[in-house]
Amino acid sequence: RLDFRANTSSLTNMANDQRMAGSPRQQLAKLFEESLRLTIPEELDIDPAIAPCQNPKFGDYQCNNAMGLWSKVKGKSTQFKNPQQIGQAIKANLPSSEMLDGSSIAGPGFVNVKLSGQWIAKSIQNMLMDGIETWAPKLSVKRAVVDFSSPNIAKEMHVGHLRSTIIGDTLARMLEYSNVEVLRRNHVGDWGTQFGMLIEFLFEKFPSLEVVNDQAIGDLEDMLAFYKASKLRFDSDPDFKERAQRAVVSLQAGEEKYRKAWAEICKISRTGYEKVYEHLGVELEEKGESFYNPYIPNALELLNKKGLIEESEGARVIFIEGKKIPLIVVKRDGGYNYASTDLAALWYRLNEEKAEWIIYVTDVGQREHFEMLFAAAKRAGWLPADDKTYPKASHVGFGLVLGEDGKRFRTRSTETVKLVDLLIEAKSRCKTALIERGKDKEWTGEELDKTAEAVGYGAVKYADLKNNRTTNYTFSFDQMLNDKGNTAVYLLYAHARICSIIRKSGKDIEELKKVGKIDLAHPDERVLGLHLLQFAEVVEDSCTNLLPNGLCEYLYNLSEDFTGFYTNCQVVGSAEETSRLLLCEATAVVMRKCFHLLGITPVYKI
Ligand code: ARG
Repeated sequence: RLDFRANTSSLTNMANDQRMAGSPRQQLAKLFEESLRLTIPEELDIDPAIAPCQNPKFGDYQCNNAMGLWSKVKGKSTQFKNPQQIGQAIKANLPSSEMLDGSSIAGPGFVNVKLSGQWIAKSIQNMLMDGIETWAPKLSVKRAVVDFSSPNIAKEMHVGHLRSTIIGDTLARMLEYSNVEVLRRNHVGDWGTQFGMLIEFLFEKFPSLEVVNDQAIGDLEDMLAFYKASKLRFDSDPDFKERAQRAVVSLQAGEEKYRKAWAEICKISRTGYEKVYEHLGVELEEKGESFYNPYIPNALELLNKKGLIEESEGARVIFIEGKKIPLIVVKRDGGYNYASTDLAALWYRLNEEKAEWIIYVTDVGQREHFEMLFAAAKRAGWLPADDKTYPKASHVGFGLVLGEDGKRFRTRSTETVKLVDLLIEAKSRCKTALIERGKDKEWTGEELDKTAEAVGYGAVKYADLKNNRTTNYTFSFDQMLNDKGNTAVYLLYAHARICSIIRKSGKDIEELKKVGKIDLAHPDERVLGLHLLQFAEVVEDSCTNLLPNGLCEYLYNLSEDFTGFYTNCQVVGSAEETSRLLLCEATAVVMRKCFHLLGITPVYKI
């Protein structure tokens, strides 16, 4: 029987300790869950679906699920004739809480609530005292693998790998902040038939060398040239092709001479892409394709036992429902491929590394591959059939980088985009801009250099991250280095200006934190305060949707809200100086955390 118990709300007073639990959305969810329980005790598993109000004139947050509830009780209930009535009951049953400053009903049963300004202020003050870590979301996943960057040995590391590096690093940082242990994995392409060809070519070129060493090969540039030349030979010379194929067998059998040559080739390539990581401040652990090679037979045997592997045109394959072409796991010549390696890697990550969430960051072109891989794993029972339960695997696909001519992005110098040169150019353009503003006379050489680096690299990262990753984006130094608009330059400068307001006030902010009080009397103060409080919700959403552009949008809007506040509220010298300086500090703290999560180094003066 449905029981409508209005006005029992004052009995429950659950959200009064605001240090208790997370973001406003989380705390509101608790209040609304309680109200839903009181409204319709039979339906305990309904999600209150709390979201910020689209239009602030209705309130700050909304409970959107009266309709959901209605669809469950429709026809059964003697009390509720429509969703509006359910909405009314939900509103009436809402426990009283110091976080709330009124509620109202709108539309077909939406319950709007307004947060108490005092409560918002207190939450910000607590964060200033206890640190931004106290706002970190707590995801239910304990350990995740983020498979990102993953260039191929002896081939070019191109701008797609740069995107993967930037997006993967941000996702890893956001998950780490959200209390997830992250295994950052560089799944480099360091195994396969191309090595036979390359090794054979090198042995031919340097016959006097028992072991190919780095002096013989030179550097990465040489390696790319050798790779291309060996490929040409392979395609045109049957005799060479045969020797190359024998070399693969020798390599796979572990013959020392071949192993050494292979290791040397990997080492030289590694110095190339490690330079990119060093510039970007990205850390990840290399576990390349070769690492998983020994696990392939076992993984395939497990799949075989489940009856998943079939014979098709001489190859061994797994058929996937809804796909025309099956996933090939053993090639016609008996060799393994990209998919066999990925199956073994997935098995390893689930069983040896005990990861609950495995995230792959590659261009959207590989979507099909991952769909097939995950489908195979589901058929095998390695992953649950739905995508809601863990363990879970996700493909984070991203679009192309285009040049300003609208074509695939390439730098002038060679067809290979020289990624390090790209970063160096961003930095040097920033340095020029700073010198034009006379900063070389104000700052030490080191300050100038560090700032140019933070802004330049930050600009490249932000230009990538601010777009929805699935769309193509245009690489333009002029756009990304503009100090107006939605760029890292604008945001980093905005942060530096806030720091300078605080510095110039001459007040000791640490002291103010201890004794001062925030008051959000002015509407622009309240807007800024509420926005600050929503930080953790945005990080949580960016993690769950694997969309870092959500965090960029938040950061940009935050700086706009700050501008609104600063334009309309005098800070230094006003009666509200202490409160407003604290609000400046809180904004700077949140902005810095956003930068950190986006892999951008903040600057403090400009
Ligand atoms: N090396 C691949 C490429 O350059 C990306 C590897 C992605 N990771 C994976 N587990 N398949 O396209």
